[in-house]
Formats: sequence, structure tokens, C-alpha cells
Amino acid sequence: MGKQETVKAINAASAAFKSWSKTSAKHRHDLLLKLYRELVANVDDLAYIIVAENGKSLAEAKGEVNYSNSFIEWFAEEAQRTYGHTVPASLPGARNVIVKQPIGVAGLITPWNFPAAMITRKVGPALAAGCTVVVKAPAETPFSALAFCQLAEKVGFPKGVINVITCAKGPNEAAVGKELCENGIVKKISFTGSTRVGKILMQQSASTLKKLSFELGGNSPFIVFGDADVDKAVEGALACKFRGSGQTCVCANRIYVHEDVYEEFSSKLAQRVEQFQVGYGMVEGVTHGPLVSQAGLEKVEEHVNKSVANGAKVLVGGKRGEGLFFEPTVLSDMSKGSPIEFEETFGPLAGLYKFSSEEDVIRIANDVPVGLAGYFFSQDVSRCFRVAEELQVGMVGINTGILSQAVVPFGGVKESGFGREGGKAGIDEYMKKLLAVRSSLEDS
Ligand code: SIN
Repeated sequence: MGKQETVKAINAASAAFKSWSKTSAKHRHDLLLKLYRELVANVDDLAYIIVAENGKSLAEAKGEVNYSNSFIEWFAEEAQRTYGHTVPASLPGARNVIVKQPIGVAGLITPWNFPAAMITRKVGPALAAGCTVVVKAPAETPFSALAFCQLAEKVGFPKGVINVITCAKGPNEAAVGKELCENGIVKKISFTGSTRVGKILMQQSASTLKKLSFELGGNSPFIVFGDADVDKAVEGALACKFRGSGQTCVCANRIYVHEDVYEEFSSKLAQRVEQFQVGYGMVEGVTHGPLVSQAGLEKVEEHVNKSVANGAKVLVGGKRGEGLFFEPTVLSDMSKGSPIEFEETFGPLAGLYKFSSEEDVIRIANDVPVGLAGYFFSQDVSRCFRVAEELQVGMVGINTGILSQAVVPFGGVKESGFGREGGKAGIDEYMKKLLAVRSSLEDS
């Protein structure tokens, strides 16, 4: 599809908004819960679709479907909690009431790394708020979005409330995004993707001054202090660095390990990574899948080669496999100037730096233009609070490598974007606030 179909979808969403926005919060809650139950009943099929289109292992795909479904469950409940408030009036006999209303048609642009969860994290709050949506499904992974629609239609979502545009990579993809950003009927854009594309969409959206929420690229630091439980830190690094074969915005990108535990951490991490089984996600025992594209594969290879040329040692992996597979890789002795300091690898490469002081490691961790997630391991309670507050990121994992959940706000600072998805804040992104002042109560 292209621009023309996008206009059609926007018009359909606009027509449906008239009645959908007037439904009661209870009605939207009930329908979303019905959808949640239908999604849960189809976990296996939804997971197979993710394996087929994205390549992650079946266990990871099931994990994603559960994560994805949790957004529909959470926002079904939140539909009934979009409380406004009242404010004492400065005029005698008047009342100030602030109510929240759905913002209108929302344009949702989602990435391929979580073909299901990034759809529900946006569609869930939008529908709960009373908005209708036009989703631009990722070119690489459109099928989860279509399966979601099929189930939504089955449980009774009216026509026009959820619209999906699928398009191939290339000019149509850019045209669809541009239309969503520039069309005046669309009142909100939520985008998950790269900082580079985010900047383009923000410029395009300026023409109609849309409300925006952007979850963009990161370059997450992962810090292991000398007082850390090293085994826990290894588990955290495995989960955080290699989730989706390293293709998540919140994956650890730069791993800093204190000199006192460097040898122990690096050898234990390498031993565990060596046990990974890379292959087709439906095969029993496979833990990690391929990269999503040739460009993604070449970037990982370039990061490995440049780091090695810069003095890093290969502890495990380091080479391409067949097709789009790359061996899960651990590099030690990383030195300043390696590419992972400047950009996300978005692949299965763990590069380990040695550090000696807390002050230095925080300065280095913060010395990037982005700030999505950060992680550290320490058993010192004062350090836990101190470092969490010093890191310039939107989300901090302390003694854990996984922080994403439907019930908490997800999002970044600096060039990692703005706005929050999930949690209490997630639904507000799809609402506007109306101040209704009522005066002269005596006259009524
Ligand atoms: C992302 O990579 O964009 C999302 C990751 C998550 O939700 O945990």
C-alpha cells in the first residue's frame, strides 16, 4: 500500500471516531478484555507468526506474545481510570472542571523487532482512550499486525476503528509515514524506531502541530561494579544483551566491568554465550535467531571488525554464519574509539570495557546523545540510589537485565525521544484535556 490507501484508512478511522469516541469507558474496557482473552487463546499461533516473520526463537516469541497481550489487559483496565479533576475557582459561584477526552485519529508507526508487542503497546491505550487508529505495520513483519486485526474483528471491534497499512520497504514506506504525519485529520503520532527517522517524522508533523510520542534509539550502558553478585550480573547481561539476538532498543550496548571482577565476569559470560544454539526458531533447543536484514548483519560485522582492529580480543563468536546469522559474540579488552560508543550495534555483540572508578564510569555512560535505558549491578544500597539517579536515561535496571512491563512507563530522555508508553502515563498520550468553567451556579 502507499499514500492513497493511507488516506482511505485515515478517512475510515475518522468516520469511525464519531461513534467510537462516544462509547462508554466500560464498553471499551469490556471489548478490550474480550480481545485480551481471544489473544491469550491464540498464543501459539501468534508466536509461530512471529518466528516466521522476525526469526526469534519460539520461546522468545511466546514471551513476546505474553508481553504483547499484557498491554491489552492493562489498558482495558485503564480505560475506566482516565480521571479528570476539579480546581477551586477564583470567581465566586464558579466551578472549574478538567476532563480528559480522546484526541482523535492516531497514527501508529511500529518496528519489526517486536512485531506484536509494539502494536499493542500503542493500539491498546489508543482504543481505551476512545481514539481510532491507523497502524503502519513494519515492512519486514506485517503479519502479526494483520493477525491482531483479525482477532479484533472477531470479538466485535467495529469497522474503521483499527486500520492497518502494510507496505514494502522503499518509497511507499516513506510516503505512508509522511501522509500520517502531514494529514490534518490525524491528531497524534506514536513512533518507535530510529532517532534518524524520528527527526524526519517530527519535522513532517510540525506542519500540523501534532501531539507526538517517540521511542527512539538507545545506547544502553550496562555496568558491573566491584561489589556486584557476578553470577547475577552474567544472567542479566545474557538476558539484556542477547534478547532478540541483540535487536532491541533497550539492549545493553556498552558493557563496563570493574577491574576487580573483570576476569571472572568475562570468562563466565563467554562460557554461557558459547552454549547458545543459533538457528531456525521453530527447531527445538534453538535459543537465538538471525538478524533481520543484510544491512543489520553487515553492521554487526563492521562493529566486530573495527573493535578488533582497535585492540579488542574475541572470547567467543566473531563471525558470520549462513544467511543472516551471526555468531553471538563476546569481545574483551575493548578500548576507547570503538564503534559501539557512537551507535547501537543492534546485534549479538557484547563488548566489555574495564573501569576502575564510579565517577569515571558514570561520566562515560552519560557521554552519548541518547538516553533510553541503563543497567547496573551492585549490592551497595547507597550506590544503587546514587547511580540510578546519576544515569541520564529514562529507565534504569538495578540488578536486573530486563525492565519492560506493561504496568510501568517506557521511554527515554535526550535523543531517545519523549512521551511514555505503558503504565499510568500511557493512556494520557492519547487524550487531550478540556477545561470546562461553569459560572453563576445560582442562576441554574
Ligand atoms: C524496543 O526495543 O523498542 C522495545 C523493547 C521492549 O519493549 O522491551
